Amino acid sequence: MVSKKVKITDTTLRDGHQSHLATRMRLEHMLPIAEKMDEIGFNSVEVWGGATFDTCMRYLGEDPWERLRQLKKVFKKTPLQMLLRGQNLVGYKHYADDVVEEFIKHAVSNGIGVLRIFDALNDVRNMEKACEVTKSEGAHAQLTISYTISPMHNLEYYVDLGKTYKEMGADSICIKDMAGIISPQGAYDLVSQLKEKVGLPVQMHCHYTSGMASMVYMKAIEAGLDVVDTAMSPLAMGSSQPATETMVAALKDMEYNTELDLQQLSNIADYFKEVRKEYTEFDTGDNSVDVNVLMYQIPGGMISNFKTQLAQQKALDRLPEVLAEVPKVREDFGYPPLVTPSSQIVGTQAVLNVLAGERYKQVTNEVKAYMKGQYGKALGQINSEVRKKIIGDEEPITCRPADLLEPQMEDAKKEVADLMQQPEDAISYAILPAVAKPFLEQKMAHATKLDLEKAEAGPKNGKPATYPL
Ligand code: CO
Repeated sequence: MVSKKVKITDTTLRDGHQSHLATRMRLEHMLPIAEKMDEIGFNSVEVWGGATFDTCMRYLGEDPWERLRQLKKVFKKTPLQMLLRGQNLVGYKHYADDVVEEFIKHAVSNGIGVLRIFDALNDVRNMEKACEVTKSEGAHAQLTISYTISPMHNLEYYVDLGKTYKEMGADSICIKDMAGIISPQGAYDLVSQLKEKVGLPVQMHCHYTSGMASMVYMKAIEAGLDVVDTAMSPLAMGSSQPATETMVAALKDMEYNTELDLQQLSNIADYFKEVRKEYTEFDTGDNSVDVNVLMYQIPGGMISNFKTQLAQQKALDRLPEVLAEVPKVREDFGYPPLVTPSSQIVGTQAVLNVLAGERYKQVTNEVKAYMKGQYGKALGQINSEVRKKIIGDEEPITCRPADLLEPQMEDAKKEVADLMQQPEDAISYAILPAVAKPFLEQKMAHATKLDLEKAEAGPKNGKPATYPL
């Protein structure tokens, strides 16, 4: 039997808890198991980026950069991977090129080895700067196909996108199926074509929401897929990834054997079973198949957002209307894939259309920016009447959106000069000012208090502080 060993990226420490526990897992619950995870032989572990950066500062009082450094100390063999929203980095809008540059330089110098770079519109202009810096910093640049289904998105388009990624210098390609809508046959065809016509390693990132993801992985592996994303079973399935242990066991008797140790994985799973119990207040608790995904191709995360938005307006009974409105808004917007931030932009507009009783009577600033071309270019045509209703006669931009942005780092450095304890603090502030500022203030107050305590305790208490485990 010729070995076509499949590799595994474990996502437990990023997408696993982002999908199941509202991204609330703290470093103190990661560090005790990190060494065991490092021993497994994963291709990489996804531990950073996505929503973790925001959540660390907004809710957990944790410095995301410090989290990364602490993890890097323990993960000695396994590359650390992050999810990067292209020119949006780990925020929700485009940042100037100097912010992209500083962010990636520091992400790599603090320990990130693999950057998965995507853009919600698959607009390569929003990924090129991030890709270029990743390469020049010596890290692995994985460029991402945000997968969606529409009359415009066909196999040829995706393969052409893959070819462009190769020309841009991508080290590998990721097929990101955030909604869990790719079918096993769809995956087989796409992976076969990418392997044949592009020739780069291909990795898949599927969400289990529709219940299809493990079948998808199997077919994709038969088509030559190199790496799959999975999460440890206690934080897998439902709206997360397929389970690591299941994938390892399923492939064991095939030429795709991952050669990972199921007993060792089971010990890690036992640990995360207990950890999940610490976060019950954030736990969706729902691991069942979401039929809405199969019918409407709406990602699970969007549906829970709708419920929150509608409940606030005491209009939860209008959910079916909102679900039916999403495809219409998406069509008017030129069929963007639904992933952060386009999922929020399209979703909020669908809610407004239903509640206002008239389409586009009320629009958000993000929708105006989208119509002005500030998020980039969608694959499909934007409905010109809708655009006119939203931005009037203003001409949308056609250049790379970030070309219009002035450098931002110098101002950010000045604005938080008094709060900076490390160069990274200015980057956090440049990306999420409203979240980073109170966080940095708190951190500064805490550091001052520690200094005072140390001074009062005298020289005997001068041991370096260790992270509370
Ligand atoms: Co994901």
